[in-house]
Amino acid sequence: MDIKVIHAPPERRKAKPTDEAKLGFGRIFTDHFFTMSYHAGRGWHDPLIEPCRPLDLHPTAMCLHYAQEIFEGMKAYRGKGGIFLFRPLENIRRMNVSAERLCMPQIDEDLFLEALRKLILLEKDWIPHGSGTSLYIRPTMIATEPALGVHPASEYLFFIITGPVGAYYPEGFSPTKIFVTEEYSRAAPGGTGNCKAGGNYAASLYASEIAKKMGYTQVLWLDAVERKYVEEVGTSNMFFVIGEELITAPLTGTILPGVTRDSVIRLAKSWGVKVAERRLSMDEVMEAIAGGALREAFASGTAAIVSPVGLIYFRGKEHPINEGKTGSLTERLYNEILKIQYGQKDDPFGWRIKID
Ligand code: COI
Repeated sequence: MDIKVIHAPPERRKAKPTDEAKLGFGRIFTDHFFTMSYHAGRGWHDPLIEPCRPLDLHPTAMCLHYAQEIFEGMKAYRGKGGIFLFRPLENIRRMNVSAERLCMPQIDEDLFLEALRKLILLEKDWIPHGSGTSLYIRPTMIATEPALGVHPASEYLFFIITGPVGAYYPEGFSPTKIFVTEEYSRAAPGGTGNCKAGGNYAASLYASEIAKKMGYTQVLWLDAVERKYVEEVGTSNMFFVIGEELITAPLTGTILPGVTRDSVIRLAKSWGVKVAERRLSMDEVMEAIAGGALREAFASGTAAIVSPVGLIYFRGKEHPINEGKTGSLTERLYNEILKIQYGQKDDPFGWRIKID
């Protein structure tokens, strides 16, 4: 399928941000977006890059009622010698895994990649220049069939929007403070915790607001059954360094299989760090803090990159980690991942794709 392009007329184009230090996350969007429609019996059709516009949806569009909606988060980097994507096929495949779980149609990998490439190249001048900045990419699929019965929709819209971003957290690369909740949970076994479904994020807001009101950046989620084992932090995967071991939760279906998570694991292993994907209880975390064995903690994600955690709030008490400072492994991982993403060093794993 050929992707048609309708260019935005000059008078509809927006001014690009001038101060990259103030980009923040997810507030500025570029001039164009990609759209493609699906109808049962016909499949995906009319792939199009067009001027970004509000969507035309019937009030009964099923995504608005039963949350048949999935998305991805990716970035394009203006790096040394070109524009790069980082492991885009991983995101494309994960989107198709989410689609299958939510009874939504699959998207052809090559077409998806071509849509990304064409859209990013068209919006190339929007890609910021500073370190840690990038063009955030949000592929999204929504059920558009106008109907109120609960069943998989027969019509969908797939779209990709882009926008220049800086750091996800207001703290930037400074350590965040996280709030452990034993009261609320994010994902139960057998649910959709391993999918990037909007509904997962809606369900996380209540506890996140409690945490924010108390002055914490994010919630650390525990497993939904025993409320004992560490799962994810906010919108990212969670890592702890205890003794000589780098520990993160295993992919048992309740946490998102993060692309950055996998990159962290593979990089750390390649440096000879002992990595364990295993269940880690809050009891063990507390014991490690008390005994001085908990050396570092950080979150990983496309938006957050590698984000140090400097303090944990648990059962009414604050527990600083590494005296509230960024740990050395955290810093090394952050720098290494950034350098690979920006083409500033060789890419032994073949993660980087140059698109221009
Ligand atoms: C990402 O890391 O790209 C995400 O999608 C997380 C979040 C902003 C929802």
